Amino acid sequence: MLDTATAWVRKARRIAVLTGAGISAESGVPTFRDAQTGYWAQFRPEDMATEEGFRAHPQRVWDWYAYRRRLLADVLPNDGHRALAAFAQAYPERLTLATQNVDGLHQRAGSAGVLCLHGDIFMHRWLDTPNACCHIELAIAGAPPYCECCGNLLRPGVVWFGEPLPLAVLEAAQTAARRCDVMLVIGTAGAVYPAAGLAHLARTAGAQVVVVNTAPSALDETAHAVLRGAAGALLPQLLAI
Ligand code: APR
Repeated sequence: MLDTATAWVRKARRIAVLTGAGISAESGVPTFRDAQTGYWAQFRPEDMATEEGFRAHPQRVWDWYAYRRRLLADVLPNDGHRALAAFAQAYPERLTLATQNVDGLHQRAGSAGVLCLHGDIFMHRWLDTPNACCHIELAIAGAPPYCECCGNLLRPGVVWFGEPLPLAVLEAAQTAARRCDVMLVIGTAGAVYPAAGLAHLARTAGAQVVVVNTAPSALDETAHAVLRGAAGALLPQLLAI
């Protein structure tokens, strides 16, 4: 199966990639849905990843994101991130990388133009529509920081459940999925839409869909090839330059 998928990649004029938390697992970043080690085994997503959860307990949610940012400061991109970056550098224009990850590891590995479907954990934005007095750089330090004048709170610049994805980013990813010859779906449970829908879009448009995952995923049935294994081991082979 790996040989077949590698041949598809070699022949492909356009490759679209969707990554999820699994690609960062080998860097030491917890995933969400893995039993025991995933964040959602410990926390309820509605508490930690919704606007309602944040409004109910802003400090608890802010502290969790601050903890995750600290954790990311101590980890490095792995061979999976690096294989994607090296391929795109060797063949500019051939690969479009969309990620659900907010960890910045693709960018740190050298990938340019990453389509961050779920935002960026290192960015902040205002919880409520900002007033003229709201300036992020003047926010009063706190957990969360706030506007001294109106009390507006800063929140993590990520997409929470029930929130729309950044439209231009999503549309660019959808265009890439529709136009690609091969779609690689790497390290995602495929449980969250519209991101997971990119795989269906690619399949419907005629692409070969390849899943890379250590465990069964909801997108296995959509794939022409399922490569069972770790992204850090498989991607350097699949994307050999
Ligand atoms: N290599 C490849 N796949 C792996 C590896 C690895 N080394 N380790 C774990 N996986 C797989 C798991 O088997 C699982 O299918 O990665 C997947 C991780 O799934 P999730 O934890 O559900 O992460 P993801 O699919 O990215 O979640 C989507 O859900 O909570 C939200 O916004 C959050 O972006 C996130 C979204």
